[in-house]
Amino acid sequence: MTSSRHAGDSGGFRKEEFRLKVEDLTLLPAISPHVLEFMTSLDDPAANIAGISGRIEKDPGLSARILKVANSPLYASRGHVTRVIDALVRVGLMTAKAIIMTASFFDSIRDHPAVASLWKHSMAVSFGARKIGEATGMTRLDELYLAGLLHDIGKVVYPMFARESFDAYLEDDSTDPGPVRESRLFGMDHAELGTRLAEAWNFPPVIYHAIRYHHAPVDAPEPSRDVVNAVGLADRISSAYGMGHSEDPFVEGGIRPLIENLGVSSSIDGILASVLGYGDNIE
Ligand SMILES: [Fe+2]
Ligand SMILES: [Fe+2]
Repeated sequence: MTSSRHAGDSGGFRKEEFRLKVEDLTLLPAISPHVLEFMTSLDDPAANIAGISGRIEKDPGLSARILKVANSPLYASRGHVTRVIDALVRVGLMTAKAIIMTASFFDSIRDHPAVASLWKHSMAVSFGARKIGEATGMTRLDELYLAGLLHDIGKVVYPMFARESFDAYLEDDSTDPGPVRESRLFGMDHAELGTRLAEAWNFPPVIYHAIRYHHAPVDAPEPSRDVVNAVGLADRISSAYGMGHSEDPFVEGGIRPLIENLGVSSSIDGILASVLGYGDNIE
């Protein structure tokens, strides 16, 4: 054994305990009753937007989140909205669901500094993925936003269920890629964990494909590959410029295939500028 620290070296028992917790999704952290009610109502085929906005208005925190996104630079050209119902119409119910679910999930562990920075990273990637989609003529812009927001959601589970081990992971000086170290310590990497969550929350396949393959877009199933490529590229751009965890070092060889697959080489400077400008405004 070398003198370097490897967080997984003593994690055998915890790894098994962690797997059992993850497999029992009912152990996921308590989400507020308003959020649960809202999530249930969104999955009801008879849901109507006025009823849903009425439920959101009961919770000032949820209302503020939806309004903030509806008034963000993504929708800047459409003017300012002040009512929850107008914000919902603008962002769409699926996006609202992702924002509320993700934010609630992050909030339950936001006292951890790594989780706070991961939230910023997720916002930056969601914005960047959508910008890349606009630049390349993609039509699935809402899916891009959602996929970006959720791509690293699996990482939040580690400090929830295994905070000490997660802190050791953060100090691990191994040069192995993050997903390799996660698998070694926790028995599964954040892409696998996030995929389980997205499936459990009934997001469509393109969303959990983006989560599953954002570190290896070339392996993504064909119908989802353009979305996965865009999320993968936004992820690398965001990490490279200090908006998040850089488990994938920013190297030309790493982003070039994604740029070529998407055909964005001529507009990459504009994308970079808008993502980096957005980063200055993320809370
Ligand atoms: Fe990731
Ligand atoms: Fe990421």
